[in-house]
Amino acid sequence: MITQYRYLIGVSQKMTTKFKVLVLNGPNLNMLGKREPETYGSLTLDNIIEDLDERAVQLGIKLSHLQSNAEHELIEEIHQAIEVIDFIIINPAAFTHTSVAIRDALLSVNIPFIEVHLSNVHARETFRHHSYLSDIAQGVICGLGPIGYGYALTSAHQYLTKNN
Ligand code: DQA
Repeated sequence: MITQYRYLIGVSQKMTTKFKVLVLNGPNLNMLGKREPETYGSLTLDNIIEDLDERAVQLGIKLSHLQSNAEHELIEEIHQAIEVIDFIIINPAAFTHTSVAIRDALLSVNIPFIEVHLSNVHARETFRHHSYLSDIAQGVICGLGPIGYGYALTSAHQYLTKNN
């Protein structure tokens, strides 16, 4: 259990970081801000993670983040998470629709996770309608843009508070 100190309106507040959440972002999400802004909006991934970090501090969550364009790096990060991370928020990007390997990695560590998509994948090409992860996820958030990650974090916090 990690203890951190925050300063709010000049008052020192002691907050306990109870839960550890890993945020994973898959291929091409490093291009957010430049990439198809009509579909993915104008915020960069750094903007999204900064916002999520602030929310995590408020919730007493310790957040870690990896974006990778390489399937094996995402898989290795999932393996490393075993018995360390309490919850995963993952936007697998294009790997959503192709990766049995990421599905198997998530099953192997048995860590609850939420699948997030910025766009509404069900309103797009048919190949985006199928996910290899949705049926084993705690939940799926799609089509709400960057705030979808924030909702996923709130939901992870509720889940962990209830189950620990
Ligand atoms: C995405 C949707 C995927 O279909 C796509 O390949 C992405 C991003 C989303 O966040 O909307 O790269 O996961």
